[in-house]
Amino acid sequence: MKKIIAVDGPAGAGKSTVSKIVAARLGYTYIDTGSMYRAVALKVLLTGKNVDDAIKDVDIKLDANGKIFLDGRDVTKEIRTPEVSRGASDVAKFGVVREKLTQLQREMAAQGKVIMDGRDIGTQVLPDADLKIFLTASVEERARRRFLELKEKNFAADFEQIKKEISLRDKQDSERKIAPLAQAEDAVLLDSTKLTIEEVVAEILRLAA
Ligand code: CDP
Repeated sequence: MKKIIAVDGPAGAGKSTVSKIVAARLGYTYIDTGSMYRAVALKVLLTGKNVDDAIKDVDIKLDANGKIFLDGRDVTKEIRTPEVSRGASDVAKFGVVREKLTQLQREMAAQGKVIMDGRDIGTQVLPDADLKIFLTASVEERARRRFLELKEKNFAADFEQIKKEISLRDKQDSERKIAPLAQAEDAVLLDSTKLTIEEVVAEILRLAA
């Protein structure tokens, strides 16, 4: 059984949904690295500090129930707004932020039996992962999923607006200089546009065995 699984891909491809299920089936820990970038963005938005200062003394913890704590406060729900999504992609360009979070992520993965998702896990954070997945889907389908997700949480959602924001974030994430969104050479490409969640899960479990 593969001990360390890295899942990368663009927004809305289904990384967190399938990674959570795979983790539960294998008895692994799921680590959502996007939530860590979101927490840093929230700190910047709430405190008005510049990124260098905000990252210096930041305290980010993920618990076993998938909750995230920023400086001791539960921000699990607060980090899911579109404003924080944009902010996350902005702070993710900074080398100081990436260095700090990458180090934290490596420490979290050190005990093994983890599935970690993000943008640069297979390329930068865990280049020696036992299994690397690059999960993608068409921008139309990803926008549709994000739209339904936001509506379910009772956030105001406009499909065209979401599609625009996802495309912008894709561009920003793939074109940034440090650790851009990219498929690792040894990653398996999975296009989930026409696959159900269960089909993607089954494929990852097959590859992990
Ligand atoms: O859930 P969604 O796919 O919308 O985004 P996320 O995974 O929560 O990540 C939010 C943002 O954090 C992304 O748009 C990236 O800019 C950044 N990120 C990153 O740079 N590196 C990672 N390993 C994870 C996220």
